[in-house]
Amino acid sequence: MEENGIIPDELDSACRQHAPMAVYLIPTFHNPSTATMPLSRRKEVAEIVRRHEVLLFEDDAYGQLEPNAVPLASLVPERTYFAASLSKCIAPGLRVSLLLTPDQASAEVLVSALRASVQMPAFLMVALVTRWLQDGSAEAIIGAILNESSARQKLAANVLVQHAYSRHPNGHHIWVPLPRNWAKRSSRRMFKGKGWLSLRQNYSASGKASPMRSGFRSAPRAAAPNWSGRWSSLRLH
Ligand SMILES: Cc1ncc(COP(=O)(O)O)c(C=O)c1O
Repeated sequence: MEENGIIPDELDSACRQHAPMAVYLIPTFHNPSTATMPLSRRKEVAEIVRRHEVLLFEDDAYGQLEPNAVPLASLVPERTYFAASLSKCIAPGLRVSLLLTPDQASAEVLVSALRASVQMPAFLMVALVTRWLQDGSAEAIIGAILNESSARQKLAANVLVQHAYSRHPNGHHIWVPLPRNWAKRSSRRMFKGKGWLSLRQNYSASGKASPMRSGFRSAPRAAAPNWSGRWSSLRLH
């Protein structure tokens, strides 16, 4: 992985070495690293998926917040299961996701599997979402969330002006490299009561020591001035 997402040569060699049945990718706002694949990278990945005849699970929880993103599903539709959760771009309480399958036969297999495991969304929520998608409400909500996320990213950028971190301009979270000796309690103390959530990861996505995923979607905007004091009082590097 790097800032443009999965590295094609590494995907290619992993496919050669392990011959997987399927590959799982988050091409837009990868969680937690925030990496987003540009179109050229998506085309390369699609070509590798096709060449190795693997299935692709495209997790598109955030795709609606990046208007320029071209889903891998549109580049290699015959091999892709495309999952679009509405939690991040409309409302988590809906508990509704949309799934596009490579073809009708695979849709039928999937529907049977879901029915067998008794997983189903609440019908009323599905009816509501369907109406919102048809009458333009969904588009308006997505637009409002996109604007709010972008405004919060700008606030965070002002606060973190001295720090290196990864972000997408419309993303719900940032990914902050931390020093090796960073104590977990530091981030707890730092974020407590501010509505800015932090999640320390125990692994490194980019070779740097233990980055921290930090989300601020749930922070009241009024709390924003406090963000500054909290961050600036800490030395991150
Ligand atoms: C990339 C990604 N996919 C899926 C999910 C889960 O979505 P949902 O809450 O709709 O199950 C998340 C939640 O953080 C996510 O970041």
